Amino acid sequence: MLKYMTSKQFCVILNFMENKIKIGIIGLGTVGSGVFKTLQNFKNIEIVKIAVRNKNKKRNIENLDESIITDNPYEVVNDPDIQIVAELVGGIEPAYNLIKTAIKNGKHIVTANKELLAKHGEELFNFAEEHNKVVLYEAAIAGGIPLIMPIKTILAGNKINKIKAILNGTTNYILTKMDIQGASYAEVLKESQELGYAEADPTGDVEGFDAAYKITTLATIAFGKRIKIDKVYREGITKISPDDMKAANEMGYKIKLIASAELNDDGRADVRVHPMLVPKSKSLAHIDYVTNAVSLTGHPVGDVTLSGPGAGEFPTASSVVGDILAIASELGRTDYLLPMMRCRHCENAVMMDVSETENKYYISITAQNSKGVIGRIGKACEDNNISLASIVQKEVAGDNAAKITVITELSKEKDMQKVIEIFNNDSAITKVNSLIRVQV
Ligand code: HSE
Repeated sequence: MLKYMTSKQFCVILNFMENKIKIGIIGLGTVGSGVFKTLQNFKNIEIVKIAVRNKNKKRNIENLDESIITDNPYEVVNDPDIQIVAELVGGIEPAYNLIKTAIKNGKHIVTANKELLAKHGEELFNFAEEHNKVVLYEAAIAGGIPLIMPIKTILAGNKINKIKAILNGTTNYILTKMDIQGASYAEVLKESQELGYAEADPTGDVEGFDAAYKITTLATIAFGKRIKIDKVYREGITKISPDDMKAANEMGYKIKLIASAELNDDGRADVRVHPMLVPKSKSLAHIDYVTNAVSLTGHPVGDVTLSGPGAGEFPTASSVVGDILAIASELGRTDYLLPMMRCRHCENAVMMDVSETENKYYISITAQNSKGVIGRIGKACEDNNISLASIVQKEVAGDNAAKITVITELSKEKDMQKVIEIFNNDSAITKVNSLIRVQV
């Protein structure tokens, strides 16, 4: 075939072949498989080595050359030919050491590792910078939703001061099902595990750890100040009841696990993950099942909401491959790749404790149906500077119990905690069932 080519055409092909970018992949699970398959579409990319945990595992992946598979991930990070390493195993170790070794060996990094970035992002970014390498991580926040690249490039002219987001598909799936079926958390969790929507050990998702990792990195990038994961307040969804779901609906809300980050006027960052009643007028109230969404508020842009698949083989691969291609497109053209994508900010955010925050609250109380209970609820709130937006009492047949639901106006968390203590000590109040913050 070559004898029919002009020398110019031959040179173009030769250049193209010589410029193949060499990639190493660590991890061939759901995300790794999606990345492998997607990269098959890019002829300028060559996957040189793939590290897996178990070499003998049967994999149904077309075009997978067994000879490039290893069960030693150090063969990937130490391979002198590899220019970009995609770390897709998750967790702290060995990922942390593998990434550092790869950087030391002159490789750029693409990672989907939310826990590692939230806990050790600062060290890794600084280490990469010292070695003039980049670490890209679009897939570590919300799977297929583009966030980091847009924030760092086209939104760079903004001062972003607020993020409200649904960053965990498992919990959003469970809450959506509880809402639709009127079922309990335990029932829906079991069903979700059977269907493969929730892990056998769901703690990381349902207790809000996963969302906390993601909002930590997202807020760090959006605010340009480092957020410390140990100062991020976290509450999961395990205590949400069908009664809360029903009451929320009746009052015009949906309950969602919200990852929230705000930069206050005094420069302090308030970053947390907890369930919230979200007014049905807000877009996040309508994000259902495994879909994720992020609403950003910035100046001059105003409010922007991005939504899409927050996990899964191909959506996450979309972000990983996008990062790989961004690096590949600059390799060999410049000595300082992707300056806008680097994380060089060194200011630590001053973080607010949740006890210093102000919120609207939903409170669900079970009380004896006796004289003066509503009056005492009102007085406890009044005495502690809490104004009520609504209070509803419903009679519950049979056990002389009343279900009281209260929504407050914006109130101090410290005052709210004092009121809850008063309720807990009131002999006519059987139980404070729930205290859930309400999105304003
Ligand atoms: N476990 C996560 C979720 C996906 O349920 O959204 C990976 O971060």
